[in-house]
Amino acid sequence: MARLESFRIGYGEDAHALLENRPLILGGVSIPSLHGTLAHSDGDVLLHALADALLSSLALGDIGQYFPPSDPACKDMDSAAIVKRVLDLLRRQAPDFAIVNLAAVVTLDAPKLGSYRTAMQEHMAELLGLEPARVGLTFKTSEGLSPGHVRSSVSVLVRTSPGVDPGR
Ligand code: C5P
Ligand code: MG
Repeated sequence: MARLESFRIGYGEDAHALLENRPLILGGVSIPSLHGTLAHSDGDVLLHALADALLSSLALGDIGQYFPPSDPACKDMDSAAIVKRVLDLLRRQAPDFAIVNLAAVVTLDAPKLGSYRTAMQEHMAELLGLEPARVGLTFKTSEGLSPGHVRSSVSVLVRTSPGVDPGR
């Protein structure tokens, strides 16, 4: 009998305020910028949205439940470490768990991100154990409507085997 795969979607969002003389890190890549995110952690909205998207794919809640900012151990936690911990959690829940692809949007008025797209794609692909072609990155301005913020939303498609699908 054919072993049918089970596909599930995940979706996450994040936003942070921008302030002068703060680092701007997106997808684990440091972007030269006059402003960056106001956050306890590295303020990487793209990796935070990704971690939430991954958790939501198996209906496992959100990163605030696992990494509460009020917990000193989670304060200033590296976003790549959060994504890795989330992947471990998903693999424990569903050992056949695999990411098919992800589609991310970053909304930021300045600076332009186009010249960092490949570096961000490669960095995120390596973090997730994927080929860069499975990491889609779209950049948008807010058309001046939200100049003081950076936002990100991420959709993921994941695959599990039916036997371990928590939805069954
Ligand atoms: O938002 P808008 O449609 O005006 O974006 C126009 C172009 O600017 C898009 O091609 C996008 O890739 C690029 N962009 C960028 N960096 C940003 C925002 C938009 O490279 N921070
Ligand atoms: Mg436009």
